[in-house]
Amino acid sequence: SPLPGTGSDTSTTASTDFADRVATTRRYLMCRPTYFDVVYEINPWMHTDVPVDHDLVMRQWENLRATYLELGHEVEVIEGAPGLPDMVYAANGATVVDGRALGVSFHFEQRRPEAALFSAWLRDHGFPVTDAVAINEGEGDFLVAGLRILAASGFRSDTASHLELAAFSGLEVVDLELVDPRYYHVDTALTVLDADHVAYLPSAFSPESRARLAELYPDAIHVSAEDAAVFGLNAVSDGRHVVVPAQATGFIAQLRAAGYVPVPVDLSELLKGGGSIKCCTLELRPATPAA
Ligand code: ARG
Repeated sequence: SPLPGTGSDTSTTASTDFADRVATTRRYLMCRPTYFDVVYEINPWMHTDVPVDHDLVMRQWENLRATYLELGHEVEVIEGAPGLPDMVYAANGATVVDGRALGVSFHFEQRRPEAALFSAWLRDHGFPVTDAVAINEGEGDFLVAGLRILAASGFRSDTASHLELAAFSGLEVVDLELVDPRYYHVDTALTVLDADHVAYLPSAFSPESRARLAELYPDAIHVSAEDAAVFGLNAVSDGRHVVVPAQATGFIAQLRAAGYVPVPVDLSELLKGGGSIKCCTLELRPATPAA
């Protein structure tokens, strides 16, 4: 009989499945939480009467940044601004593909001034920015998966923004509808693991969107309500390592079983604003080199 590892033993499907869990180096933008606070309530997680531990926020955020650096990624930092407590959620600052950015336009007035600050940073760092017309909250609602973007509406981003996104990116845009107010941005209900794999909470999506996801990703990981409720799906994958909220223990086991390397990080203090790891991370995708 063939020796294990010689490549002739096709019965070991588990290990062959995992052969494609390959990390690619990423460049991220994070916003320092100097002014993070909960002073208004625009999602069900925010309670102005629950105090924020500012030192803990800073330590947890620094730990996330250090984790990305240890994984070999590049991290850029934009400073926050007084009066903009949610700016720490940098995923909402833009959508960057092929070295160009689509700007954002926030649903809630409290966050609108952030748009110009993120756009200015991007322009200063060599990313041309196309201004948004319809409401879109950046990577909070637009998740890039290979040559496809999963774009949500329901609570924040407008469906009209999906057309803008398609025109801007030239990529396939899949419309998804969110139905659970606790999962008001798609990055709270779905994690892109790599170009062909995702994990999600089915009940966060409308029946039509669930059917579409099942068709596009037949082998997706479905997470439990418990793991979703600790923002387990607000995770960031480089194709192999998945930086994931430490409290999502069931999801962490599912990731390991699927051949990924979970990297648990505790961002509990940021959950007081209704966000976690992915919310604090905007991916800066470089221009594809001309052929
Ligand atoms: N407090 C912020 C808001 O409600 C949280 C944003 C979370 N960001 C995200 N990408 N899901 O707008």
